[in-house]
Amino acid sequence: MDSYEWTRISGAVLTALIAVLGLSILTGYIYTPAVPAKRGFVVEGVVAEAEEAPAAEAGEPPIELLLASADPARGEAAFKKCAACHSIDKGGANGIGPNLYGIVGAKHAHIAGFGYSPALQALADKRWDWASLSEWLKNPRAAIPGNKMAFAGISKAQERADLLAYLNSKSDSPLPLPAPPAAAPEAAAAPAEEPATEQAAT
Ligand code: HEC
Repeated sequence: MDSYEWTRISGAVLTALIAVLGLSILTGYIYTPAVPAKRGFVVEGVVAEAEEAPAAEAGEPPIELLLASADPARGEAAFKKCAACHSIDKGGANGIGPNLYGIVGAKHAHIAGFGYSPALQALADKRWDWASLSEWLKNPRAAIPGNKMAFAGISKAQERADLLAYLNSKSDSPLPLPAPPAAAPEAAAAPAEEPATEQAAT
């Protein structure tokens, strides 16, 4: 056998190998078993997370109500979760995230020169209010898709309210706390023999 024949044989082997490989990739595409989107069996007592979430959300009191009993001192403790990336003192340096002094009521992307994501910059003429900050801190990724704050969020609504009260205190002009919503379930369900405290509050 001369070298020409060897070349032909190895060429043929190589071609066969490529054909087998190609075929297996192709069939892999075609015969990949379709995974059903919803699992076909239900385990009693186990509720899928996606189904549970809306119910939990519906039960969450409005942030305006929680702010009425918010404690800035507890909020300061909660801010430890943020301090790795954010300073809060007036004129403090930006870290991984921007300085947050005066953030309540400020515009989105409020620090000029900080390298915000396009997602946050796109909202630059909108102000952060109680509700938008609460949504943001609950789940940043869902609140403003495409942002670059690598923080999972705070699911406890009261903790967010405490944190907002603390953020608000770190400002030249803290916002007045919002009026609790008129039709708060607590107010509606309050027993009639408590008008004294109601009057004291107003
Ligand atoms: C891992 C770092 C990190 C942590 C932890 C973090 N942040 Fe951020 N934060 C960022 C970054 C980065 C941005 C800018 C996001 C962008 O540009 O998309 C940001 C943006 C923000 C903004 C918007 C600022 C503006 O100028 O519009 C607020 C408000 C904020 N963070 C609050 C918080 C609070 C409160 C906490 C703690 C509960 C927290 N962050 C935790 C990194 C972080």
